[in-house]
Amino acid sequence: MDGGVLCCPPRDCSRYYRNGAKQLGIVLGAWKVTLSMAKPILVVTSRYPKEVEDRINRDYNARRNPDQVPFSQQQLLSAAEGADALFITPADRLDSGFFQKVSPSLKIIATYSVGFEQIDLEAAARRKIPIAYTPGVNSEATADIAMLLLLGASRRAYEAQELIRTRAWKPLSPDMLLGWQVGGKVLGILGMGRVGQALARRARGFGMKIHYCNGSKLPAEIAGDAIYHEDPSDLLRASQFLSLHAPETPQTRHFLNSKAISLLPPGAIVVNTARGGLVVDDDLIAALKSGRVAAAGLDVFEGEPKLNPEYVSLKNTFLLPHIGSATIETRTAMGMLALDNVEAVLNGRPAPTLVQP
Ligand code: DGY
Repeated sequence: MDGGVLCCPPRDCSRYYRNGAKQLGIVLGAWKVTLSMAKPILVVTSRYPKEVEDRINRDYNARRNPDQVPFSQQQLLSAAEGADALFITPADRLDSGFFQKVSPSLKIIATYSVGFEQIDLEAAARRKIPIAYTPGVNSEATADIAMLLLLGASRRAYEAQELIRTRAWKPLSPDMLLGWQVGGKVLGILGMGRVGQALARRARGFGMKIHYCNGSKLPAEIAGDAIYHEDPSDLLRASQFLSLHAPETPQTRHFLNSKAISLLPPGAIVVNTARGGLVVDDDLIAALKSGRVAAAGLDVFEGEPKLNPEYVSLKNTFLLPHIGSATIETRTAMGMLALDNVEAVLNGRPAPTLVQP
């Protein structure tokens, strides 16, 4: 806020308005008082759906990343100089070095994601910078993509598409592109949070039996008929289909390695819409090559947007470029929630969805 302007009734107050300022008009008797407040400075590292962009442009002095490539750490530090808030994505990695150097003007950082493994939370806490994220709003869209991957992998959708697109489709032969039925099979869900639960609802509709492993057993009214495994190894042993929905943490990193894969029923199908870091790529690729894992549907990759090229050369993979939350509705809701957090903190109110360090 940078002060106010007092004008008397006949004058046109608009001439006092400046770029990047918010005006607050108050009528006091015959006087109109216009308070002119500088908009807060928000560093915006990416592009968002229209409604979100409109809100940014209306409420903030936005410092934009002009390029499609993410800011380097130095660029982000420079952009944050004197700024009030950062609006980032998982492509912006904020490590302890970043927090040592970042501008003391920052009052909040909001990430456009439910995952926040790219942020060193302890370093943020040392600088007393609250971190907000966007839980809840992406569950349904991400579960849709998990189901798409599950079906795509099990029904060999990539090979089928290739046949069409290369015009190699020959007259029907009964053994062409035989996949694996999902009905009646066990779907193991690692991480039965909102997305895992939303996938379970969908998979039940396809006749699948749900097993899950989670930090804690869910109340019966949420779990329904899903079978709980306290030990992830027991979940793996049961999972004809396995879908990963755990956050990436030091504990879950590289969960799906060769040892874990060896516990799966032979010919299991693996789906990942959570984080690429949950999987040891070389181990999954070896299992896909040998047929130990029949197929995989993957939306996320360690080191994305780069991915292990062997995934692309395999026919039993169904691959997507991290589009779990990519619907207009969801991506708009994520942006609005991120901005709700920024707005709340900058106005001295409790933020709706802060990460608890
Ligand atoms: C999330 O919200 O974490 C999604 O994976 C998008 O990044």
